[in-house]
Amino acid sequence: MKMPGCAVRSTRCAERRASAHGALRTAHLFLILAMAACTRDQWQRFPSPDDVVAKVPWFATMHHGLAIQPYAIPSRPPVPGTVPTTGAAPELHIDNDAELAQLNRMRNPAARTSESLDRGQQLFTIYCYPCHGVAGQGDGPIAAKFVAPPSLTAAQARRYSDGYLYALIRYGRGIMPPYGDKVRGDDRWHLVNYLRLLQDTRK
Ligand code: HEC
Repeated sequence: MKMPGCAVRSTRCAERRASAHGALRTAHLFLILAMAACTRDQWQRFPSPDDVVAKVPWFATMHHGLAIQPYAIPSRPPVPGTVPTTGAAPELHIDNDAELAQLNRMRNPAARTSESLDRGQQLFTIYCYPCHGVAGQGDGPIAAKFVAPPSLTAAQARRYSDGYLYALIRYGRGIMPPYGDKVRGDDRWHLVNYLRLLQDTRK
């Protein structure tokens, strides 16, 4: 280290240099000890100036006020078996033979009206188009980077029952992700109607 105003070989200079080195080393040591002594947990428990100020009741209004905590976990989760006020759809999976038979017997409760098809198209464009493409031919923008899914208008997809399609949308299949958490209730059936429309328009 070059000390200011030092002739290169003077002994006083060498002493000053040595003591400067010593001071630096001590500072490093302190820093390392301080870091090692203070865990993340301790750091978080360290009182913040806000905590001290809030001891004065007049200043504590903000601290104890009723604030909306959007990520707070509800203190009382619903009891097991609770169903949404809109009713619950029974769990029926395509990989269980008995449930599959039940699915195959299901009738689409949503009539194929233009409203249903519009809603189906809207959902298809949001959730399905990225992989399956506009007309369900497996050529969506993601398919090239992911896996090209089978055509939704080919013989195989036509043979599926409405209930099967419903469950496939709800739970996914193979590498197709489930959409039941996003597409809910009758919306799943509107999507089924729209899949049938895609099949009918591509005879
Ligand atoms: C991330 C890409 C992706 C998205 C998004 C996606 N799928 Fe799929 N889908 C696939 C893949 C991959 C398969 C093939 C799955 C398999 O091999 O079991 C598939 C299979 C299917 C099949 C069965 C086709 C057949 O011939 O067996 C249907 C029906 C289907 N998807 C409908 C939908 C609908 C409706 C949506 C929107 C809610 C959707 N998919 C969203 C990737 C996707």
